[in-house]
Amino acid sequence: MSSLKIQNICKSYESLSILKNINIEIESGDFLVLVGPSGCGKSTLLNMIAGLDEISSGDIVIDEAVVNRFHPSERDIAMVFQSYALYPNMTVRDNIAFGMKIRKVPKDQQDKAVAEVADMLQIAHLLNRKPGHLSGGQRQRVAMGRALVRDPKIFLFDEPLSNLDAKLRVDMRTEIKKLHQRLQATIVYVTHDQIEAMTLATKIAVMKDGVLQQLGAPRDIYYEPANTFVATFMGSPSMNLVSARIASNDGQLYAQVNSGSGQYALPIAQKLAPRLTPYIGENVTLGIRPEDIVEKDDTTRLSETVVEVSCRVEVVEPTGPDTIAVVQFNDQEVSARCKAVSAVESNTTAEFAINMSHVHFFDSTTQARI
Ligand SMILES: Nc1ncnc2c1ncn2[C@@H]1O[C@H](COP(=O)(O)OP(=O)(O)OP(=O)(O)O)[C@@H](O)[C@H]1O
Ligand SMILES: [Mg+2]
Repeated sequence: MSSLKIQNICKSYESLSILKNINIEIESGDFLVLVGPSGCGKSTLLNMIAGLDEISSGDIVIDEAVVNRFHPSERDIAMVFQSYALYPNMTVRDNIAFGMKIRKVPKDQQDKAVAEVADMLQIAHLLNRKPGHLSGGQRQRVAMGRALVRDPKIFLFDEPLSNLDAKLRVDMRTEIKKLHQRLQATIVYVTHDQIEAMTLATKIAVMKDGVLQQLGAPRDIYYEPANTFVATFMGSPSMNLVSARIASNDGQLYAQVNSGSGQYALPIAQKLAPRLTPYIGENVTLGIRPEDIVEKDDTTRLSETVVEVSCRVEVVEPTGPDTIAVVQFNDQEVSARCKAVSAVESNTTAEFAINMSHVHFFDSTTQARI
């Protein structure tokens, strides 16, 4: 398996700039997930790695070799396209085995490889059908199968699970993770789904409007988002962002917010104090993940970093494993993650606890993490 460097990559269509100076490096065996809103340039970047789209400037480096001028067939890359790109007049079996046939892999080896991936992708019963007689999700799995029977330098996957139902999607996600662990393959994977990104990636690249917002391990992206865009893109429900004023009293910093019944001064953890001191007297954006606003109970009260607030509850949404309460906080709606069986009821005022050691602060002007 191979390393990949994306160096100062730019892409424009005439005057329209699509990718703006993208720099990403991954090691052999890394699982890079590209995430970002529709149209941000994920597929364009993937196509440029594969050699299917011309680079406007910059270099694609595979194993220390600049491959900009290499034909796609010389790059030894297996790609699963967002549009599947199956051969319509071949059976599923022949679609999957096509590359092996070209390379004159012995027939018994081809059959074994096809059977293995078909089993893994739950399409063994479809091997004699043609793509036109398959559902979108089944076609998508055939396209996966065609890539997975190969042993390329790099796998490129463009939203390979987007057309599957929720259960199959989770099954396939686990299969892909197992496959990565077994093969130690180098993978670049595009998805809209932030759970997929968090669970599969060794590195996540978050993109917006052709600009790389942050590159890091899933944990860094989630716990130390570079800006409010990354903060709200990853995590569901999204991180709550509220405006807060930084105040100081006796050396302790506070974030001042309103909540229905009055004003709260939320004590800021000491570790954040040096970075927030320059903001005393100013407004900043306070970010609180739903899981850090919980129902007040005996355990939450024990921690020093937990502050209690009372909020008007607008809506209660049971999800199964937990309950999301949409509550009024600082004159806006925020999400709180409550227990599966929650006593919180809509149209009442309830007590919540915020874990201040987990909150984030962002500059109100630049949106960058403080
Ligand atoms: N041939 C082209 N000419 C002009 N603009 C193009 C061309 N191909 C793509 N684009 C534009 O480039 C941008 C990035 O497209 P791309 O397909 O890479 O987005 P994406 O992040 O993969 O989106 P999605 O999540 O919807 O698949 C889009 O705004 C798209 O309209
Ligand atoms: Mg795309």
